Amino acid sequence: MVAASLLLLALIPVALGRPSSHSSPLVVRGHQKSVPDGFLPAPFLPGGIFRFTVAFKSTNTDGLIRSLMDVSDPASAKYGEHLTKDEARPVDRLTAPLPESVQAVTGWLQSNGITPQVSSSSGDMLNIPIPIDQANTLFHAKFAPYAHGATNRTVVRTLSYLLPADVSEHVAFVYPTTQFIAPAVRKARVHEAIEHIPTSKGSRSKRATIPARCAQFTSPKCLQAIYNIPSTPASAPSNSLGGSAFSGETANLDDLQSFLSQARPDITNGTFSVLSVNGATDSGAGTDEASLDIQYTVGLATNVSTTFVDVGPNGQGDVQDFIDEINALVALDNPPLVLTTSFGFDEPGFTGEASPLAEALCNGYAKLGARGVSVLFASGDGGVAGSRPELSCNGQPFIPTFPTTCPYVTGVGSTAGISPEIAANFSAGGFSNIFPRPAYQDAAVSGYLQALGDTNAGLFNASGRAYPDVSTQGQNFVIIAAGKALPVLGTSASSPTFASVVALLNDALLNAGKKPLGFLNPLLYSTAAGALNDIKAGSNPGCDTDGFPAVEGWDAVRRLSGAARADGFFVLTGVAWQVTGLGTPDFQKLLAVVTGSSGSD
Ligand SMILES: *[C@@H]1O[C@H](CO)[C@@H](O)[C@H](O)[C@H]1NC(C)=O
Ligand SMILES: *[C@@H]1O[C@H](CO)[C@@H](O)[C@H](O)[C@H]1NC(C)=O
Ligand SMILES: *[C@@H]1O[C@H](CO)[C@@H](O)[C@H](O)[C@H]1NC(C)=O
Ligand SMILES: *[C@@H]1O[C@H](CO)[C@@H](O)[C@H](O)[C@H]1NC(C)=O
Ligand SMILES: *[C@@H]1O[C@H](CO)[C@@H](O)[C@H](O)[C@H]1NC(C)=O
Repeated sequence: MVAASLLLLALIPVALGRPSSHSSPLVVRGHQKSVPDGFLPAPFLPGGIFRFTVAFKSTNTDGLIRSLMDVSDPASAKYGEHLTKDEARPVDRLTAPLPESVQAVTGWLQSNGITPQVSSSSGDMLNIPIPIDQANTLFHAKFAPYAHGATNRTVVRTLSYLLPADVSEHVAFVYPTTQFIAPAVRKARVHEAIEHIPTSKGSRSKRATIPARCAQFTSPKCLQAIYNIPSTPASAPSNSLGGSAFSGETANLDDLQSFLSQARPDITNGTFSVLSVNGATDSGAGTDEASLDIQYTVGLATNVSTTFVDVGPNGQGDVQDFIDEINALVALDNPPLVLTTSFGFDEPGFTGEASPLAEALCNGYAKLGARGVSVLFASGDGGVAGSRPELSCNGQPFIPTFPTTCPYVTGVGSTAGISPEIAANFSAGGFSNIFPRPAYQDAAVSGYLQALGDTNAGLFNASGRAYPDVSTQGQNFVIIAAGKALPVLGTSASSPTFASVVALLNDALLNAGKKPLGFLNPLLYSTAAGALNDIKAGSNPGCDTDGFPAVEGWDAVRRLSGAARADGFFVLTGVAWQVTGLGTPDFQKLLAVVTGSSGSD
């Protein structure tokens, strides 16, 4: 295992601004009327230095998104021409703060005796490490500890903060201040321990028959057989794949090798490297989520160079970890070409005070997409009920999952069963309350909504970005964690599976001298839609409803939307659309589509 370590916070002082006297009036930047639901005042204020992020208002988000779409839409002349991080740093330039913004903010900080550190390669975020007393003065705040009830984690927040008006106009957000966001949760759930990994014999032919044991336990060989995924080693030297983890997860090489020796004995030297972001330490016994991610990427994306991106030193599932990961990856010359993440938040935490954070994160994924990275997120395991499906929603709207609701990532849901393959009932799907529906899914979503009629009316936002986009099997995946074989379930299993399919498609493209796939959705919803298997049954119950159902009559809508498109695109979508997206992959069909239509050098 090769360990690379990346120190996120370059200690580069930003260009000195003219210290100003700040006679500018103070304006309220954040305000909570009372402590938000789910949090309670806590007794102990931890001491020491706290880290604040100040983000500049984005200068050219439209340009960034236009660039992303230009390089990601197969119909565009610039398809595949991803932005590189060369000397001109085009992606950074698109998101760099204005010089007057840098001057105003750094001038204000310096007049308060603070020299900020730049924490993103474009310079659009500053890191301010200061004690709480100083933060109270600087932000005219009253920071105090609050416990998050469900997880018993303590966060330090303030119910309001102020900034000088001539600083405020340049600032998108200061974090953490008034944002009360429940910590990210991982998606894998463990079943009972089992004794060994069921192995299957006789699945080596090109189009394998599906081993009978796959009905009970899912292994890489099952997935290869179900989705036509080759076992031949990838060979493009520049190919790469990454899985990210937060909250103190550990991927263990011994576990991986023991898994491979049983599940993929044909892989002789499967390994992974670790990219530690912000001092995360990846050592010790393997944990479930990390083991699942690593074993179903190295075990499926045969011979693709795989990196475990381990984020954050203290394992709190904090939004700062997600920000740090994006900034670390965008700063790399060659970020992993595919990134799978099985952690997420309930989206309602990002409305109101925290909505600029959601936008910044989503634009961060857009930056990675513009660089040619396919960013995948598990859609969530609570059906329509967010991270706590065991609780009643009391007639409140469904709870979407962020970052999956960001329109610039690919959300991956889960299926169950093989013949037929149906939607898994835990698979999260729905509609964002923050991000509007992107154009690439207009035809598919409006067709689905028409067929859905007034089912669940008032419980979801029909104008929002719909997710997931695709799905794969997600039940009874056998892993080895801390030496024990365990079956796990969750969209956590599906996201690395789909990511591995993408990495193997990239291999064919790279070997043919073509560009990797990058941001997938414009391709998936157009030319690749027909290469996915429709999922025709199942739903995702929750919030005292049956969730989003498989709808009668959707086939008719589908033919209509296909015929209605003069450009030859055929928008093909499954009946269980809002649980499993466009469906599950057929590697060979996808390969034919991408090698036939991808832009070349
Ligand atoms: C929450 O954390 C506090 C302080 O660490 C501890 O005393 C308490 O028992 C914990 N409560 C639960 C329900 O875990
Ligand atoms: C594995 O990939 C490397 C490039 O990263 C390639 O050189 C090597 O030949 C591949 N191994 C096999 C068995 O194809
Ligand atoms: C083993 O790893 C090396 C270096 O990563 C690679 O070149 C080689 O092809 C791998 N062998 C197999 C069988 O994958
Ligand atoms: C989901 O399906 C499983 C069987 O696969 C069943 O045990 C469980 O009760 C179902 N959950 C709901 C909420 O319907
Ligand atoms: C519905 O979604 C849109 C974005 O698509 C958003 O602007 C609006 O506030 C949302 N409505 C509610 C009630 O959340």
